[in-house]
Amino acid sequence: MSRELAALTDHIVCGHFIELLPQLPNAFVDLLILDAPYNLTKRFGAESFRERSLAEYEEWFEGWFVRVLPLLKPTASLYVCGDWKSSAALHRVLDRHVIVRNRITWEREKGRGAKTNWKNASEDIWFATVSNDYHFNVEAVKLRRRVMAPYRENGQPKDWEDGPEGQFRLTHPSNLWTDLTVPFWSMPENTDHPTQKPEKLLAKLLLASSREGEFVFDPFLGSGTTAAVAAKLGRRFLGIEIDEKFACLAAKRVELAKHDPSIQGYAKGVFWERNTLSLQPKETAPVEELQLALAESPSPYLTGKAN
Ligand SMILES: C[S@@+](CC[C@H](N)C(=O)[O-])C[C@H]1O[C@@H](n2cnc3c(N)ncnc32)[C@H](O)[C@@H]1O
Repeated sequence: MSRELAALTDHIVCGHFIELLPQLPNAFVDLLILDAPYNLTKRFGAESFRERSLAEYEEWFEGWFVRVLPLLKPTASLYVCGDWKSSAALHRVLDRHVIVRNRITWEREKGRGAKTNWKNASEDIWFATVSNDYHFNVEAVKLRRRVMAPYRENGQPKDWEDGPEGQFRLTHPSNLWTDLTVPFWSMPENTDHPTQKPEKLLAKLLLASSREGEFVFDPFLGSGTTAAVAAKLGRRFLGIEIDEKFACLAAKRVELAKHDPSIQGYAKGVFWERNTLSLQPKETAPVEELQLALAESPSPYLTGKAN
């Protein structure tokens, strides 16, 4: 690994990612996570994004996306988050530069109902790769689901397990995800960030599309979900966040992740459906242990200004 890359490994940098790009080596990224502001007028701490026409949003996205592309290895995968308003623009840009492989739609159960429209309860994640040579580990992202029609063959369960908690089957994950919970106040991963993604969501992306020790890059780090999950799953990471408060939150989450690698909804190597917490094997460290670990940590904030 080059010295410049070693200096950035497992770091969170507070700054504008475009200003930092010239300092980054080419072809170092195995997995790119892009969760840029959607095409909505929204405030993120000190920064805000202004809604524009779909054509302008497409131009904005493509303008910086082509500058990020050289950072990717030829074997890299990328995931690009969007809502229904921005999704078409994202797709068109991706289609021009990389190989689009799928669109994941996930149920986002948060927000108020609308009086003159359908309530929005979903978001998209485009899955793409740089080439046809890419890593995808479906075994690492299987979903443990309750069996509705427990079929038996010669009296034995067919493809499912009978246990004290009920009947379950390990299923292949589809591109429709209904097992996620948007972080809320009583979840340990919850922060003040307005658009924080669930750790479980990032865990699926990282486990499917990267190997242990590989490099994950997130230039819109927000509250640090990608970095925290990378730390928990043994991936290397670099995250960039323009807002200092969010960058600090992210650094704190990475520090906590070192002491508590649990991910809500993911236990013993499989993902669990929503509302099955009582059935999942416990892997969370007690809160007092985490507070002590954080207090004793020599350098809790890794944040550094770019330049
Ligand atoms: C949609 S949020 C990402 C949320 C993140 N995935 C999480 O789970 O917390 C986008 C983030 O990008 C940050 N951002 C916006 N423009 C940026 C820029 N030019 N460079 C770095 N970060 C930026 C915003 O402050 C915001 O926190």
